[in-house]
Amino acid sequence: MISRMTHAISVKAVTKVFDDGNKALNEVDLIIPKGSFFALLGHNGAGKTTLIKSVCQLTSITSGDILVNGKNLKTNSMYAKRKIGLVPQEFNCNPFHTVEQILYQFGGYQGLTKTELDKKIPALLDNLYLSEKRKTLFRALSGGMKRAVTIARALIHEPEILFLDEPTAGVDVEIREGMWKFFKALNKKGLTIVLTTHYLEEAEQLCKEMALINRGKIIVSGEIKKLLADQESAMIELTVDQLPKLDQLPCYLVKKGQKGLMCHLPKGKAMHDVFDELNELGCRVKSFEVVTGRLEQLLKQSMDRKAV
Ligand SMILES: Nc1ncnc2c1ncn2[C@@H]1O[C@H](COP(=O)(O)OP(=O)(O)O)[C@@H](O)[C@H]1O
Ligand SMILES: [Mg+2]
Repeated sequence: MISRMTHAISVKAVTKVFDDGNKALNEVDLIIPKGSFFALLGHNGAGKTTLIKSVCQLTSITSGDILVNGKNLKTNSMYAKRKIGLVPQEFNCNPFHTVEQILYQFGGYQGLTKTELDKKIPALLDNLYLSEKRKTLFRALSGGMKRAVTIARALIHEPEILFLDEPTAGVDVEIREGMWKFFKALNKKGLTIVLTTHYLEEAEQLCKEMALINRGKIIVSGEIKKLLADQESAMIELTVDQLPKLDQLPCYLVKKGQKGLMCHLPKGKAMHDVFDELNELGCRVKSFEVVTGRLEQLLKQSMDRKAV
């Protein structure tokens, strides 16, 4: 029996070094609670896809452990395939197969009978606005429709966990909104969803929890609302005539480039206080820009802290 408290996914000290020596994952620890709609955020090359592929067993890990529903994949090698659905970042469907062929083939691979698929496929196509395209070759579909096919394919075996690796890349706004509604409804029914995205405001809108990955390391994780509540209300990028010495910098300022400073304006402190303090350290503010987007702020802040 799987206890209710078991995590959907538990990643423990996972390291992945590619053959060329590139360390894409560096001792990653991550817990994804059951039933959550979880955002995995990070810039290009941070390690998101490698982490997802590792959990889906599409790439081997160098060290560490991955548990799905409490089962270690090292000793339950087929378990992930049955319990997880993956919408990959890159389209990997045969371009010369029709939408239906792709779904029947993958359903067969998952062990479903033709009778079962005859029932399931029309409903999935309907939900993803693909019914009219069922006889169309994959190569002839728009980007959004291609994505919808990979979503249908990922759901065909009714997985408990769905990975969406940048699912809205190349998808126009209208289709995107339809997809979000569909994902929200699936999550409400109990499906655990893990989403990687560059649309940070959407991650905030859809997901309750998040982890931020940078250079193969998780640098922040937790409830999005809580993480954002810790954010100062203002974040300002300053350009100065010359930087003060790093060891003189007040804690709310982070060096950014040759003449730039990122200011996480502390509550109760006014901009002119910051200008005065910098003047005292011998530098003048030449210009400033208010940075918006709270999740973006969190990314920058965490990454700048790591970089200094
Ligand atoms: N097959 C591979 N061989 C060598 N390095 C790879 C391979 N795939 C990805 N990488 C590297 O691993 C790092 C993480 O990549 P990836 O997981 O794709 O990041 P993300 O999905 O966050 O953009 C990058 O430095 C990337 O260049
Ligand atoms: Mg990726």
